[in-house]
Amino acid sequence: MTDGIFRLAYISRNGGLNDPSELNDLLASARRNNATMDVTGALLFSRDCFAQVLEGPMVNVSQVFELIQLDERHSEIVVLMAEQAAGRRFPDWAMAYAGEDAAARERFSAMSFEALRERAVSGGEILAMLDGAVHRAPPVT
Ligand SMILES: Cc1cc2nc3c(=O)[nH]c(=O)nc-3n(C[C@H](O)[C@H](O)[C@H](O)COP(=O)(O)O)c2cc1C
Repeated sequence: MTDGIFRLAYISRNGGLNDPSELNDLLASARRNNATMDVTGALLFSRDCFAQVLEGPMVNVSQVFELIQLDERHSEIVVLMAEQAAGRRFPDWAMAYAGEDAAARERFSAMSFEALRERAVSGGEILAMLDGAVHRAPPVT
């Protein structure tokens, strides 16, 4: 299938991205590239792990994900969801940051890659977590 929306969700181990300015650089580059690729999604970050949802045309999501997989800032990528979707969950974000809201940032800050993997977190759960955080975040005033 070439048209329609494809959605991919994964978790990975953070390989040393701690500094907020490094996260900002990552988000800026993701947003710039994804906007040209018609890819949208959301990213969750803790000192220990990442969780990300990517959505868009399948070929484009695959291309973006290829780049992401090569990135040495994380490792042990576990794909939890890769499927056609009825529509986008993050249509307004080239790459939303799930920690934009201070309460969500606090909640996610202690998230451990090992714990997620051990309890076999599902793609649906990651999607719901990111969706909840991004859509609950109050507008910036
Ligand atoms: C956890 C994580 C998520 C990323 N997400 C994206 C993304 O959604 N889109 C993207 O283009 N790059 C993403 N990147 C960055 C890419 O791996 C790569 O650095 C970037 O595409 C390089 O683009 P640039 O040379 O234009 O800066 C991500 C990297 C990490 C570690």
